[in-house]
Amino acid sequence: MGTTNVTPEELNYHGYTTAQYEQEIRVSIPFHAEVHGEIQEFLCETWEPEAALSVLDLGCGTGLTTQIIRETLPKSVFTLVDFSNNMLDGARQKFGGGNVRYVCQDYSKMSVSSGKYNIVASVIGLHHQTDVGKLAMFTKIRQALVPENGVFIFADLVTFRDRHRAALEAARHYNHLVEKATSARMLSEWAYHHMFLNQLAPYEDQLEWLYWAGFTSVNVRFLKYQTVLIVAQ
Ligand SMILES: C[S@@+](CC[C@H](N)C(=O)[O-])C[C@H]1O[C@@H](n2cnc3c(N)ncnc32)[C@H](O)[C@@H]1O
Repeated sequence: MGTTNVTPEELNYHGYTTAQYEQEIRVSIPFHAEVHGEIQEFLCETWEPEAALSVLDLGCGTGLTTQIIRETLPKSVFTLVDFSNNMLDGARQKFGGGNVRYVCQDYSKMSVSSGKYNIVASVIGLHHQTDVGKLAMFTKIRQALVPENGVFIFADLVTFRDRHRAALEAARHYNHLVEKATSARMLSEWAYHHMFLNQLAPYEDQLEWLYWAGFTSVNVRFLKYQTVLIVAQ
Protein backbone atom coordinates (compact mmCIF):
# COMPACT_ATOMS: atom_id res chain seq x y z
CA MET A 1 0.00 0.00 0.00
CA GLY A 2 1.34 3.39 -0.94
CA THR A 3 0.49 6.66 0.75
CA THR A 4 -0.30 8.67 -2.38
CA ASN A 5 -3.82 10.13 -2.47
CA VAL A 6 -4.18 10.23 -6.28
CA THR A 7 -3.50 8.13 -9.34
CA PRO A 8 -1.63 9.54 -12.36
CA GLU A 9 -4.98 9.32 -14.24
CA GLU A 10 -6.68 11.58 -11.69
CA LEU A 11 -3.90 14.15 -12.06
CA ASN A 12 -4.59 14.08 -15.81
CA TYR A 13 -1.00 14.91 -16.80
CA HIS A 14 -1.30 12.46 -19.70
CA GLY A 15 -3.72 15.00 -21.24
CA TYR A 16 -0.96 17.60 -21.64
CA THR A 17 1.83 18.11 -24.10
CA THR A 18 5.14 18.91 -22.42
CA ALA A 19 5.04 22.51 -23.66
CA GLN A 20 1.50 23.04 -22.38
CA TYR A 21 2.22 21.47 -18.99
CA GLU A 22 5.37 23.54 -18.54
CA GLN A 23 3.63 26.78 -19.46
CA GLU A 24 0.79 25.99 -17.03
CA ILE A 25 2.85 24.77 -14.05
CA ARG A 26 5.02 27.90 -14.20
CA VAL A 27 1.89 30.04 -14.01
CA SER A 28 -0.28 27.98 -11.68
CA ILE A 29 2.33 27.53 -8.94
CA PRO A 30 2.93 30.96 -7.43
CA PHE A 31 6.66 31.79 -7.41
CA HIS A 32 7.69 28.69 -9.39
CA ALA A 33 10.44 30.73 -11.11
CA GLU A 34 11.58 32.43 -7.89
CA VAL A 35 11.89 29.08 -6.09
CA HIS A 36 14.00 27.66 -8.93
CA GLY A 37 16.15 30.82 -8.86
CA GLU A 38 16.70 30.26 -5.11
CA ILE A 39 17.60 26.61 -5.73
CA GLN A 40 20.21 27.64 -8.27
CA GLU A 41 21.63 30.22 -5.87
CA PHE A 42 21.86 27.58 -3.13
CA LEU A 43 23.65 25.14 -5.47
CA CYS A 44 26.17 27.82 -6.50
CA GLU A 45 26.83 28.72 -2.83
CA THR A 46 27.34 25.07 -1.87
CA TRP A 47 29.22 23.38 -4.74
CA GLU A 48 31.77 24.19 -7.41
CA PRO A 49 30.41 23.78 -10.96
CA GLU A 50 32.68 20.77 -11.58
CA ALA A 51 31.25 18.80 -8.63
CA ALA A 52 30.15 15.34 -9.79
CA LEU A 53 27.22 14.51 -7.54
CA SER A 54 24.53 11.89 -7.45
CA VAL A 55 21.08 13.49 -7.63
CA LEU A 56 17.59 12.02 -7.13
CA ASP A 57 14.54 14.03 -8.29
CA LEU A 58 11.27 12.68 -6.84
CA GLY A 59 8.12 13.66 -8.73
CA CYS A 60 10.35 15.06 -11.46
CA GLY A 61 7.54 15.86 -13.92
CA THR A 62 9.02 16.93 -17.26
CA GLY A 63 12.34 17.72 -15.59
CA LEU A 64 12.15 21.48 -14.99
CA THR A 65 13.87 21.17 -11.59
CA THR A 66 16.50 18.71 -12.81
CA GLN A 67 17.17 21.06 -15.72
CA ILE A 68 18.25 23.81 -13.29
CA ILE A 69 20.40 21.41 -11.24
CA ARG A 70 21.95 19.90 -14.37
CA GLU A 71 22.80 23.30 -15.85
CA THR A 72 24.47 24.28 -12.56
CA LEU A 73 26.24 20.95 -11.85
CA PRO A 74 26.63 19.38 -15.32
CA LYS A 75 29.02 16.60 -14.24
CA SER A 76 26.45 15.07 -11.92
CA VAL A 77 24.38 11.95 -12.53
CA PHE A 78 20.62 12.02 -12.16
CA THR A 79 17.84 9.59 -11.25
CA LEU A 80 14.41 10.93 -12.16
CA VAL A 81 11.30 9.36 -10.65
CA ASP A 82 7.69 9.97 -11.64
CA PHE A 83 4.62 7.72 -11.77
CA SER A 84 3.37 9.42 -14.95
CA ASN A 85 5.04 8.02 -18.04
CA ASN A 86 3.80 11.00 -20.04
CA MET A 87 5.64 13.39 -17.73
CA LEU A 88 8.79 11.25 -17.84
CA ASP A 89 8.62 11.35 -21.65
CA GLY A 90 8.92 15.13 -21.44
CA ALA A 91 12.09 14.66 -19.33
CA ARG A 92 13.42 11.99 -21.72
CA GLN A 93 13.01 14.40 -24.64
CA LYS A 94 14.92 17.08 -22.73
CA PHE A 95 17.88 15.06 -21.45
CA GLY A 96 18.08 11.79 -23.40
CA GLY A 97 20.24 9.08 -21.81
CA GLY A 98 23.85 9.48 -20.66
CA ASN A 99 23.94 10.82 -17.13
CA VAL A 100 20.17 10.64 -16.61
CA ARG A 101 18.21 7.54 -15.56
CA TYR A 102 14.41 7.38 -15.55
CA VAL A 103 12.18 5.42 -13.17
CA CYS A 104 8.43 5.23 -13.73
CA GLN A 105 7.13 4.34 -10.26
CA ASP A 106 5.19 5.60 -7.26
CA TYR A 107 8.04 6.86 -5.09
CA SER A 108 6.13 5.98 -1.90
CA LYS A 109 6.29 2.30 -2.90
CA MET A 110 9.86 2.38 -4.17
CA SER A 111 12.89 1.26 -2.21
CA VAL A 112 15.84 3.62 -2.43
CA SER A 113 19.49 2.69 -1.74
CA SER A 114 20.83 3.98 1.57
CA GLY A 115 23.50 6.67 1.65
CA LYS A 116 23.67 7.00 -2.13
CA TYR A 117 22.64 10.54 -3.08
CA ASN A 118 24.32 13.90 -2.48
CA ILE A 119 21.12 15.72 -3.38
CA VAL A 120 17.50 14.63 -3.23
CA ALA A 121 15.16 17.19 -4.77
CA SER A 122 11.41 17.25 -4.70
CA VAL A 123 9.76 20.38 -6.03
CA ILE A 124 5.95 20.55 -5.91
CA GLY A 125 6.10 16.78 -5.79
CA LEU A 126 5.19 15.54 -2.29
CA HIS A 127 1.84 17.25 -1.64
CA HIS A 128 -0.14 14.19 -2.78
CA GLN A 129 1.15 12.26 0.21
CA THR A 130 -0.95 11.69 3.30
CA ASP A 131 0.58 13.12 6.50
CA VAL A 132 1.94 9.68 7.36
CA GLY A 133 3.26 9.45 3.80
CA LYS A 134 5.08 12.78 4.03
CA LEU A 135 6.87 11.70 7.21
CA ALA A 136 7.68 8.32 5.62
CA MET A 137 9.08 10.09 2.54
CA PHE A 138 11.19 12.46 4.67
CA THR A 139 12.61 9.41 6.47
CA LYS A 140 13.25 7.55 3.20
CA ILE A 141 14.93 10.65 1.74
CA ARG A 142 17.15 11.15 4.80
CA GLN A 143 18.26 7.52 4.54
CA ALA A 144 18.92 7.86 0.80
CA LEU A 145 21.29 10.81 1.34
CA VAL A 146 25.02 10.43 1.97
CA PRO A 147 25.34 10.78 5.74
CA GLU A 148 28.03 13.50 5.92
CA ASN A 149 26.68 16.31 3.78
CA GLY A 150 23.66 15.15 1.78
CA VAL A 151 21.06 17.80 1.06
CA PHE A 152 17.30 17.57 0.63
CA ILE A 153 15.95 20.40 -1.54
CA PHE A 154 12.26 20.47 -0.80
CA ALA A 155 9.80 22.91 -2.32
CA ASP A 156 6.06 22.41 -2.07
CA LEU A 157 2.64 23.86 -1.41
CA VAL A 158 1.80 24.03 2.29
CA THR A 159 -0.86 25.26 4.65
CA PHE A 160 -0.46 26.69 8.18
CA ARG A 161 -1.42 25.73 11.74
CA ASP A 162 -3.04 29.10 12.29
CA ARG A 163 -6.40 28.83 10.52
CA HIS A 164 -6.63 32.54 9.71
CA ARG A 165 -3.24 32.42 8.02
CA ALA A 166 -4.20 29.17 6.29
CA ALA A 167 -7.35 30.83 4.90
CA LEU A 168 -5.54 34.01 3.86
CA GLU A 169 -2.73 32.21 2.02
CA ALA A 170 -5.22 29.90 0.28
CA ALA A 171 -7.15 33.00 -0.86
CA ARG A 172 -3.90 34.48 -2.22
CA HIS A 173 -3.15 31.23 -4.05
CA TYR A 174 -6.60 31.17 -5.69
CA ASN A 175 -6.40 34.87 -6.51
CA HIS A 176 -3.06 34.21 -8.24
CA LEU A 177 -4.74 31.47 -10.31
CA VAL A 178 -7.60 33.79 -11.27
CA GLU A 179 -5.20 36.58 -12.24
CA LYS A 180 -2.70 34.47 -14.17
CA ALA A 181 -4.74 31.75 -15.87
CA THR A 182 -4.85 32.31 -19.60
CA SER A 183 -8.09 30.39 -20.21
CA ALA A 184 -11.24 29.28 -18.36
CA ARG A 185 -10.17 25.65 -18.82
CA MET A 186 -6.79 26.31 -17.27
CA LEU A 187 -8.31 28.13 -14.28
CA SER A 188 -10.87 25.41 -13.66
CA GLU A 189 -8.27 22.61 -13.97
CA TRP A 190 -5.74 24.08 -11.53
CA ALA A 191 -8.40 25.31 -9.07
CA TYR A 192 -9.75 21.73 -9.11
CA HIS A 193 -6.27 20.37 -8.40
CA HIS A 194 -5.87 22.75 -5.52
CA MET A 195 -9.27 22.15 -3.95
CA PHE A 196 -9.72 18.40 -4.47
CA LEU A 197 -6.42 16.73 -5.37
CA ASN A 198 -3.72 18.54 -3.42
CA GLN A 199 -3.32 17.40 0.15
CA LEU A 200 -1.47 20.17 1.93
CA ALA A 201 -0.05 19.79 5.43
CA PRO A 202 0.84 22.65 7.77
CA TYR A 203 4.27 24.04 7.09
CA GLU A 204 5.13 24.03 10.82
CA ASP A 205 4.26 20.31 11.06
CA GLN A 206 6.46 19.52 8.08
CA LEU A 207 9.44 21.32 9.64
CA GLU A 208 8.93 19.18 12.74
CA TRP A 209 8.62 15.99 10.67
CA LEU A 210 11.91 16.76 8.93
CA TYR A 211 13.62 16.82 12.34
CA TRP A 212 11.80 13.63 13.36
CA ALA A 213 13.12 12.03 10.16
CA GLY A 214 16.67 12.74 11.33
CA PHE A 215 17.61 15.99 9.57
CA THR A 216 19.60 18.21 11.94
CA SER A 217 19.59 21.46 9.96
CA VAL A 218 16.33 22.65 8.39
CA ASN A 219 16.34 26.07 6.73
CA VAL A 220 13.46 27.87 5.09
CA ARG A 221 14.88 29.70 2.05
CA PHE A 222 11.59 30.97 0.61
CA LEU A 223 8.02 31.29 1.86
CA LYS A 224 5.28 33.28 0.15
CA TYR A 225 1.59 32.45 -0.04
CA GLN A 226 1.52 28.65 0.17
CA THR A 227 4.82 28.06 -1.62
CA VAL A 228 7.81 27.07 0.49
CA LEU A 229 11.43 26.12 -0.23
CA ILE A 230 13.22 24.25 2.54
CA VAL A 231 16.80 22.99 2.51
CA ALA A 232 17.35 20.16 4.98
CA GLN A 233 20.70 18.54 5.83
C1 LIG B 1 3.72 19.31 -10.33
S1 LIG B 1 4.96 18.23 -10.92
C2 LIG B 1 6.42 19.15 -10.53
C3 LIG B 1 7.61 18.78 -11.39
C4 LIG B 1 8.80 19.71 -11.35
N1 LIG B 1 9.55 19.61 -10.11
C5 LIG B 1 8.39 21.14 -11.62
O1 LIG B 1 8.55 22.00 -10.74
O2 LIG B 1 7.93 21.41 -12.73
C6 LIG B 1 4.85 16.92 -9.75
C7 LIG B 1 5.02 15.54 -10.33
O3 LIG B 1 4.99 14.60 -9.26
C8 LIG B 1 4.46 13.39 -9.78
N2 LIG B 1 4.01 12.58 -8.64
C9 LIG B 1 3.06 12.89 -7.74
N3 LIG B 1 2.93 11.89 -6.84
C10 LIG B 1 3.85 10.94 -7.20
C11 LIG B 1 4.22 9.67 -6.65
N4 LIG B 1 3.61 9.18 -5.59
N5 LIG B 1 5.20 8.97 -7.24
C12 LIG B 1 5.83 9.46 -8.33
N6 LIG B 1 5.53 10.66 -8.90
C13 LIG B 1 4.55 11.39 -8.33
C14 LIG B 1 3.36 13.84 -10.74
O4 LIG B 1 3.08 12.86 -11.71
C15 LIG B 1 3.99 15.10 -11.35
O5 LIG B 1 4.63 14.82 -12.55
